Amino acid sequence: MLSASVAFAEIPQPVDQMELMRRLDEDRLGCFNHAFEAGDEITEATYTMARGVGARVAEGQYFTRLPRADLADTGDWAQHEPQREGGPQAHSCISCHSSPLANGAGPLAMNVAIDPLHSGEPGQFLERNTLHLFGLGAVQRIAEEMTQELKAQEALVAEQACAKQEPVTLALTAKGISFGDLTATPDAQGESCTGQIDYEQLYGVADDLIIRAFGWKGTHITLRSFARGAAHNEMGMQAVELVGDADGDHDGVTGELSIGDLTAVTLYMAALERPTSKLELADLGLTELTDDERARIERGEARLAEAACTSCHVPSLELEKAVFSEPSAVPGFAEEELPSGADARALGLDPDRPLWFDLTKDQPNNRITLASGEEVLLGAFAPSGEQGATVTWYSDFRRHDMGPALADPVDAYGMGASVWPTRSLAGVGSTGPWLHHGHATTLREAILAHGGEAEASKAVFAAMPEEQQAELIAFLENLVIENFDPEEEDH
Ligand code: HEC
Ligand code: HEC
Repeated sequence: MLSASVAFAEIPQPVDQMELMRRLDEDRLGCFNHAFEAGDEITEATYTMARGVGARVAEGQYFTRLPRADLADTGDWAQHEPQREGGPQAHSCISCHSSPLANGAGPLAMNVAIDPLHSGEPGQFLERNTLHLFGLGAVQRIAEEMTQELKAQEALVAEQACAKQEPVTLALTAKGISFGDLTATPDAQGESCTGQIDYEQLYGVADDLIIRAFGWKGTHITLRSFARGAAHNEMGMQAVELVGDADGDHDGVTGELSIGDLTAVTLYMAALERPTSKLELADLGLTELTDDERARIERGEARLAEAACTSCHVPSLELEKAVFSEPSAVPGFAEEELPSGADARALGLDPDRPLWFDLTKDQPNNRITLASGEEVLLGAFAPSGEQGATVTWYSDFRRHDMGPALADPVDAYGMGASVWPTRSLAGVGSTGPWLHHGHATTLREAILAHGGEAEASKAVFAAMPEEQQAELIAFLENLVIENFDPEEEDH
């Protein structure tokens, strides 16, 4: 599937963050496009050990598909800083993110086993199927805006309790989605009252009210931190912002990814084209659907709502400000101190001077000229309101208990082994196999594996006549990932 030009892609020179900043001052869009290109090269490159790929698993061994907490001698797998979750098992990002095209999801054979608790017990390893990387800038922005909305309500309820000098309960919502209740109780009188908050009745989000949209389990707040972790765990490429000038994985190489490299990779993933649908492509004359096929897909969309799948897989959410910034301007999403301990601003990661792009028009990929001569920005999100965008993502960005059949073997992150944020259905027609472990070989199996909070919804689906189930699945199969850029066509 990967062409020779990809397999032997040259390893790019490190990107200089300060050079990016100089370009930013001269030409914002040119700088963004340059960073996007650099991110493309980094995610495609097959890194060599001389450039730091791999990590000392044990004497003479630098790669492993199985977590090796049993190897704990000086410098071995279990001794790396920061602690590994798994790997390293790959030389490039796209060796896993490969199906059905570069930056896509991954086949079952490329599943990753992780052991975050260093149990050393295969029965406690967590299994993860590779996620696709398309349209992720809008995902971080939705999480940022929802977090801001929740935090503002937290401040408000505390203020009200102090003003009234009695307990106040507020029903929390973000983008119209309910997150349960917060109750504040006055903890003092006058100026010194800050309000004691009770988080017991929260729903679908951690007590810090931060929406964590990345990873199957919702373990990461930003694309940057996910990419930094992926480079370390999957490839043994330790970024400078992770370890400074230390050799935390004992492979004899330091400075494996620069600050600018991570900025480029982050912007690249944030600005990759959004997933699309066969209906949308047919409307533009880019694919053909018979009237029958179209009617079935449309009926399938109605079935998704009938089975209340859309109570979690909320079709679309409105972004108020459709600009992705790196670093983020939102507190909690921008790091003041990097994991290495370095001051982010001093290294050029300044929330007041971010690299940024417009999610409704700047994406370089899937800019299509139709037969009519009209240019369509199929990679961009549809503008809405003054400065916003509609993000069709089929998720409520909340966590749900999906029942024992979808539980990890252990609760490695303290949020419940069977608790998962609603997985997006955007692109789901192109990303099989499905579910966090990739064990569902068909969409039907993925749906029938739902339990817990989705039990009732699953039961409605299961009770539908076969034809209606097929319509619902035809709708899901219509949610596809397509790349129209000539260079990528052979993937
Ligand atoms: C060994 C296979 C493998 C390699 C190599 C790999 N990934 Fe991944 N990637 C995965 C898996 C598996 C997941 C899902 C992980 C999870 O949810 O815990 C994932 C998830 C992601 C996500 C989260 C997407 C989302 O919607 O939440 C991002 C971002 C990502 N990878 C970026 C990268 C980057 C950048 C690189 C290269 C530096 C990379 N990955 C290399 C397997 C891989
Ligand atoms: C209570 C919330 C909830 C409801 C209701 C729900 N889902 Fe899901 N769905 C999820 C979560 C969470 C996941 C990820 C589970 C996992 O991977 O373990 C998921 C995963 C999926 C997947 C696999 C996605 C992938 O990329 O692998 C499909 C397909 C899907 N759901 C379809 C449906 C359909 C169809 C319905 C209605 C019959 C439905 N869901 C109802 C929460 C829900």
